[in-house]
Amino acid sequence: MSAFKIGVIIPAAGQGTRFGGDKLGQDLGGRPLLLRTVELFTKRDEVGAIVVAAPPDSIEEFRSRYAAQFGFHGVAIVAGGRTERWESVRNALAAVPDDCTHIAVHDAARPGATDALLTRVFDAARIAAAVVPGDPVSSTIKRVSVETFAAAPDDAVADAILGEAGRDAVRGRRVECTVDRTRLMAIQTPQVFEAALLRRAYAQGDLASATDDAMLVEQLGEPVLVVEGDPRNLKVTTTADLAIIRAILGHRAPEERPVHKRF
Ligand code: CTP
Ligand code: MG
Repeated sequence: MSAFKIGVIIPAAGQGTRFGGDKLGQDLGGRPLLLRTVELFTKRDEVGAIVVAAPPDSIEEFRSRYAAQFGFHGVAIVAGGRTERWESVRNALAAVPDDCTHIAVHDAARPGATDALLTRVFDAARIAAAVVPGDPVSSTIKRVSVETFAAAPDDAVADAILGEAGRDAVRGRRVECTVDRTRLMAIQTPQVFEAALLRRAYAQGDLASATDDAMLVEQLGEPVLVVEGDPRNLKVTTTADLAIIRAILGHRAPEERPVHKRF
């Protein structure tokens, strides 16, 4: 069998704006969330290198916090992008060794990826040049107006229930249409690509619109394969997500653990 060696890029340079702080430093069973994510890959035989993109404005603090454990695993740290995820991936790409035949990109904020999911995506990547995990969309999806509206003044029901005050209090968007969800997938990471393909995707002029890496490969006109994702592989975006991921992974919040087990 031909060589198969994966370089893993972990974009970890985000600001956690919606979380309201350093989400990657949050405690997950006594270790920072970021370390949990990195450790998903350190035990995999296919993985030959790991590059983490760090926040450029606090890279020294980041290094002093993580360098010892990262160094132990041979993980490299590079400066990521100040605002855009794609800048972080682009910067990290330059640090992925040339002998990696494939490159996987995995959000630092997804510590719940299971080993079975990694096996599924990695195995598919031996055959297809671009592979992403996806979960079928189970919610009803509607496209809505850009603007929000106050409940119409002649809305008799709102008027009767809420009176004058209700007219301003009840705001919402208008439904434009309901989208057929049967072929919609919520796409996750890790996304795995033949190294040359991802490098070509990132060499394109316009990267600005990309919300994931596969989009840039699609922009080249190259096929992308979606394999089965895992609902446990959620992206920690808000504090509610942190509570969910702790429940999924069976870790209690630090304040709920006995003091002698906190560190
Ligand atoms: N990311 C990155 N570089 C950026 C922006 C994001 O490496 N300039 C990373 C984040 O650290 C995260 C992943 O991309 O692991 C997905 O981004 P997201 O969930 O949006 O995290 P944040 O950008 O940190 O959160 P927010 O958008 O709420 O600020
Ligand atoms: Mg973001």
